[in-house]
Amino acid sequence: MEAKHPSESRTVLTDLVLPGETNQLNKLFGGELLARMDRAAGIAARRHSRKISVTASVNHVAFNEAIPLGSVVTVEAMVSRAFNTSMEVVIDVWTEDQENGQKTRVNEAIYTFVAVDEQGKPTAIPQIQPETKLEQQRYDGALRRKQLSLVLAGKMKPHDATELKALFL
Ligand SMILES: CC(C)(COP(=O)(O)OP(=O)(O)OC[C@H]1O[C@@H](n2cnc3c(N)ncnc32)[C@H](O)[C@@H]1OP(=O)(O)O)[C@@H](O)C(=O)NCCC(=O)NCCS
Repeated sequence: MEAKHPSESRTVLTDLVLPGETNQLNKLFGGELLARMDRAAGIAARRHSRKISVTASVNHVAFNEAIPLGSVVTVEAMVSRAFNTSMEVVIDVWTEDQENGQKTRVNEAIYTFVAVDEQGKPTAIPQIQPETKLEQQRYDGALRRKQLSLVLAGKMKPHDATELKALFL
């Protein structure tokens, strides 16, 4: 299978924050943002793998800034690294000043997707070939994050997490 570039999976969703999607402070409800990020990441994973792709894990979410009612929100997702059947998808969230168009990065997240066949069995996917410096940085950190996620999920023994051990030893 030929390797693909992160940009080939790039997925951008732009939408408004409406009244039914906010909390008591009139800011975007966290669960709504998680759903938007999951949707964008799922499309990115499918674009990379061209297979059915399911969310296996939400590895990291940072709600750095609250997003007010009426905001224009852009969610951008890209596959940062592919393993055998799983992919790390990095998601950046931007708001846009509606007067001058200036964009501010307000949130970020990292999800893991797994490509599966019609029976839900994990199936092999193409590798990733980073092109930019940022893509290379994200690629380099992805194995460490995968091992951390597997250790937290009880699917890998800490002793076997070589990338994590390398941070401390
Ligand atoms: C995701 C799913 C297919 C994984 O199945 P599984 O039997 O654990 O499969 P495996 O153990 O072979 O793991 C498959 C891959 O996922 C990775 N993986 C599994 N759990 C992971 C986790 N918590 N974090 C990171 N990677 C994980 C494995 O490392 C493996 O990666 P690799 O093949 O690239 O090395 C299965 O758990 C599933 O179908 N879950 C439900 C998904 C779903 O419905 N999501 C929607 C949200 S409700």
